[in-house]
Amino acid sequence: MPLVLAALLGYLSGSVPYGLLLTRAAGLGDIRKVGSGNIGATNVLRTGNRKVAAATLLLDVLKGVVPVLAVAAFWGREAGFVAGIGAMAGHVFPVWLGFKGGKGVATGAGVLLAAAWWLGLICALIWLAMAKLTRISSAAALTACCAAPVIALLAGDLALAGFALVLALLIILRHRDNIRRLIAGTEPRIGRKT
Ligand code: G3P
Repeated sequence: MPLVLAALLGYLSGSVPYGLLLTRAAGLGDIRKVGSGNIGATNVLRTGNRKVAAATLLLDVLKGVVPVLAVAAFWGREAGFVAGIGAMAGHVFPVWLGFKGGKGVATGAGVLLAAAWWLGLICALIWLAMAKLTRISSAAALTACCAAPVIALLAGDLALAGFALVLALLIILRHRDNIRRLIAGTEPRIGRKT
């Protein structure tokens, strides 16, 4: 029962589409009709409004952090993992948007930071390094999320590696269009629409 509740709490937290809500509130229209159509901070930045993009990033991270920490405090680490996967599922497949949500990068970062801060920190640094190098958000995200299970495995934490693998698979699944554009060399740089 705690695990079902953990998944549900995570899902409810993750399913709030902050990017969509904040852009609407700021009068920027429907973010799903801008750039890549994604509801995440990278796409919100394409509206040119840095403050709304930063707020989206922060809230998308927090909606991953909060359920993992809260559930882990009551029911332990593994239940925290379940809440984290629930939060990711909520962000990627939100019931409120007909199950068409975001790509899971910021929420995945929050979930990982809450589950194992050191691994979240390493992945955030990998993201930053790759973003500086390539100026492509999706390339940075894919590198960081693929590194997470490998690093957890090298650290000898099998449960964390399995958890990070599930997060990575969800993120990769939602980046199929980005991967096609990366291969074609047409993926836009950070802040650019095309
Ligand atoms: O965080 C999402 C990012 O990896 C890709 O976003 O809008 O360029 O598809 P976008």
